[in-house]
Amino acid sequence: MEKTSVPLAILISGRGSNLRAIAEAATHGQFGAHVAVVVSNRADAKGLQFAREAGLDAVVIPHGAFASRDQFDAAVIDLLRARGVRLVCLTGFMRVLGLRFCATFPNAILNIHPSLLPAFPGEHAVRQAIEHGVKVSGATVHFATADLDSGPIIVQEAVPVRDGDDADALAARILEVEHRLYPEAIRRVVAGGWRVVGRRVLWDRGVSSSGHDG
Ligand code: GRF
Repeated sequence: MEKTSVPLAILISGRGSNLRAIAEAATHGQFGAHVAVVVSNRADAKGLQFAREAGLDAVVIPHGAFASRDQFDAAVIDLLRARGVRLVCLTGFMRVLGLRFCATFPNAILNIHPSLLPAFPGEHAVRQAIEHGVKVSGATVHFATADLDSGPIIVQEAVPVRDGDDADALAARILEVEHRLYPEAIRRVVAGGWRVVGRRVLWDRGVSSSGHDG
């Protein structure tokens, strides 16, 4: 990616706490990116309030208003192109993107997921981790593809599961990690020095699985 600040689109459907973490990171130097536009597919997404209060350009594109996913995707693509977006960050965005969307932003759509993928993809990752009895879960930032919670992994960080955890308690500790991990993943992606080889994201300067320099 280039040296000038990279315009980001943040796509949300709900709370928007990762949007907040990314927007705050972008206000500090050395991030290499700024939030060009926030897009929500739901008018009642709580994250929109933060976006507007923060003075971010926030646009609602309600998926229900479109006859097909392709038409919804096309409307989002048009908006992102109009804003000059170079990197798309999905943060709790509850729509699976179509092939055309993915082809428009090759290796330039990021997603965060509250598990150590490929374990527990899908909407109920934290509850499933508890029910399965895993001792370690965590958070993953990966390049998004048209397949749900798939795509090459950029960074992961483990979070231990405690005996007393229910899904809410574990989700809260994972979320704290997400708020650090997602901005870090964006910073690294926009800084460049990486390539995707098969399913692997390889770094020229070396990076550990936790996202810290190895
Ligand atoms: C996060 O847990 C993220 O991992 C998952 O959806 C949640 C979004 O939370 N994909 P928020 O809207 O960023 O607060």
